[in-house]
Amino acid sequence: MSILEVNNIKKKFDNTEILKGISFSMEKGETLSILGSSGSGKTTLLRCLNFLETPNEGTITVNDNCLFDAKNGPLRDGDLREKRLHFGMVFQQFNLFPQYTALENVTLAPKLENRGKSQDEIIENGKLFLDKMGLSDRMNNYPHQLSGGQQQRVAIARALALRPDILCFDEPTSALDPELTGEVLKVIKELAEQHTTMIIVTHEIGFARDVSDKIIFMDDGVIADEGTPDQVIDNPSNERTRQFLANYLK
Ligand SMILES: Nc1ncnc2c1ncn2[C@@H]1O[C@H](COP(=O)(O)OP(=O)(O)O)[C@@H](O)[C@H]1O
Ligand SMILES: [Mg+2]
Repeated sequence: MSILEVNNIKKKFDNTEILKGISFSMEKGETLSILGSSGSGKTTLLRCLNFLETPNEGTITVNDNCLFDAKNGPLRDGDLREKRLHFGMVFQQFNLFPQYTALENVTLAPKLENRGKSQDEIIENGKLFLDKMGLSDRMNNYPHQLSGGQQQRVAIARALALRPDILCFDEPTSALDPELTGEVLKVIKELAEQHTTMIIVTHEIGFARDVSDKIIFMDDGVIADEGTPDQVIDNPSNERTRQFLANYLK
């Protein structure tokens, strides 16, 4: 059984079709990277998976449980929050709450979700994830007191603290200086080695080759190519993939 099955997702903005029928599946513990030029629809796809956008067509199924079927219309607000919890999201711009410390950022949503855990348990859990991200000495700092790399690691801890089935990253290092990119890629690589199920939209091609079980190459709203890193990155048969890689690697 696949942990995630995405079937024929289509998304229009105004009258322009941005996603033109996206289908893929992934297994528990896999890391999937999505590559593709700017404007090819990668962010829109992740936003559809997190129900930040409502697809016009298609289905999204997690652990054999159909979370979304466009035939049934948009999700209701009450459903939305619960269904969103299947997916964790880490954005390019971190999106931490500036008025809260690192630990408060990580524990805020679990406290609101109130899934039968005590406040102490939630705080212990938050500390555990910050520790896992190498931030045990930064828990009481505010975002402005942290480097970009540290802020992004807080954002990853925050997403992990909700124990999502699938952790999604949208260009997690694009807003970082090169010397801070490495520290964030390192923790994502550790998560991959621990078989955290992840979808990573990235322009870090070497990193994607290194950590991914599977690569999807998106072009103009479709999956133009998919396979193992060896198939898609090292031996691309698709002409568009070849052009894209040539532009990046030159
Ligand atoms: N909310 C929106 N309204 C209208 N057009 C949008 C919206 N969001 C994205 N688009 C368009 O969809 C296309 C794909 O965008 P995006 O998913 O952000 O691509 P990528 O992440 O691959 O760069 C772009 O042409 C973008 O302008
Ligand atoms: Mg994007």
